[in-house]
Amino acid sequence: MNNSLHVVILAAGAGTRMRSDKLKVLHHVAGVAMVDHVLNLAKSMNPSQITMVFGHQGEQLQAHLAEEQVNWAEQKEQLGTGHAVQQAVPFFKDDEQVLVLYGDAPLVQLNDLINIDASQFVLTAVLENPKGYGRIIRDGERVTAIVEEKDANEAEKQVKEINSGIIQAPAKKLKNWLSQLSNDNQQGEYYLTDVIALAAESQQSFKAAVLADSDAVKGANDMVQLAELDAIFQQRIRTDLMKNGVRLMNPESIDVRGQLRCGRDVVVDKGVLIEGEVMLGDGVRLGAHSVIKDCELVAGTQVAAHSVLEGVTTTGACQIGPFARLRQGTVLSEGCKIGNFVETKKTTMGQNSKASHLSYLGDAEIGKEVNIGAGTITCNYDGVNKFKTTIKDGAFIGSDSQLVAPVIIGENATIGAGSTITKDAPDNKLTLSRSKLRTISNWEKPKKI
Ligand code: UD1
Ligand code: MG
Repeated sequence: MNNSLHVVILAAGAGTRMRSDKLKVLHHVAGVAMVDHVLNLAKSMNPSQITMVFGHQGEQLQAHLAEEQVNWAEQKEQLGTGHAVQQAVPFFKDDEQVLVLYGDAPLVQLNDLINIDASQFVLTAVLENPKGYGRIIRDGERVTAIVEEKDANEAEKQVKEINSGIIQAPAKKLKNWLSQLSNDNQQGEYYLTDVIALAAESQQSFKAAVLADSDAVKGANDMVQLAELDAIFQQRIRTDLMKNGVRLMNPESIDVRGQLRCGRDVVVDKGVLIEGEVMLGDGVRLGAHSVIKDCELVAGTQVAAHSVLEGVTTTGACQIGPFARLRQGTVLSEGCKIGNFVETKKTTMGQNSKASHLSYLGDAEIGKEVNIGAGTITCNYDGVNKFKTTIKDGAFIGSDSQLVAPVIIGENATIGAGSTITKDAPDNKLTLSRSKLRTISNWEKPKKI
């Protein structure tokens, strides 16, 4: 634990330009709320405390972060970034360094911060188009002031070095400078950035730490910028994956909204979407346009195109899809095959069992070497309750059968095609329910009236 670091996260702003009922910092970038990215960064620095400044739609933020160990500092009226940090002052301890992060700037990474060799700094970036940002006014190494776009004169507007918003300073000094802020500026706000000039006046200037990757300063004020942040984030994730040996067949088309961990020689085809926590073992292949959410697919698992998997675990190499839909609680063993238009839910399948075409398997425990014929349905729901189907090792279910749960199909049992099975079927026997095949000899085709 870094005993002396206190991270303050500003998240009280209204985010009006998002035109959304959802609080701005709760909007997702790469599947994770912006504020969570920032909070994760803060936590990765092992600070002694984290203070969250909340205000506008604060109840949404508090509900979202209910499990987190943070101090809550309310900013009742949003009177500016300086005013926001003032709300956190009661939590300051004199021996701390205070680091201010913005809840709506999720691209900053630990590497951007840990190599800065100063305890009092402002993180800056050089932008081709600095419009809208506060400009860094320097006297050599010293930052003498930050001037907001709206307060800047023509010469200041030419400056391309901008304020990321992230600053760090010793708590005692920061508290003193914050108490001297005024709102005598174009926006009538208490600017945190004015702290920089106050420090310079007392010969205690901030150091400018210039970011190597200027994208890291970007924040989201509207849906366009949010999409831009997402695109930058996706690009980072794809680059990381490829550097770690993952073959992305069409990198630009692959989105990761969450966390993807891969073994060696994983291949991800065009248009794949990853959500939540996904683990792919060595040699796993994901077919084009598949959606994989919260899955653990072990070495050798092959998913063919257009399959949708959620909450699936494989315990051995198996084949899935194309066009398979595997839902929560599906567990497949080595050698299993799930073919096209097969849906599973809360279903386990033993080794080498197959459902190759057009089936619904829900609430089912299926043994080894079982063959599920095309069109088989486990009727697990009576309209009120769900029931379980058990199919034992080696059973063969003929095509177009309905297994009305609760029901047990015995070991090596065969179910005749087209059967509706309402009672347990014994081991090693053929069970079927079919009316006798008849041909009506004097039947005539209907005639048009
Ligand atoms: C701020 C900086 C600017 C910098 C830019 C980087 C100031 C005065 N300006 O401008 O120099 O280049 O960020 O993006 O600091 N917030 C509160 N309470 C408030 C106002 C804001 O919590 O009363 C929070 C917002 O939720 C947001 C952050 O502070 O997370 C930044 O506020 P924003 O209004 O976006 O500041 P900018 O005008 O962009
Ligand atoms: Mg902003």
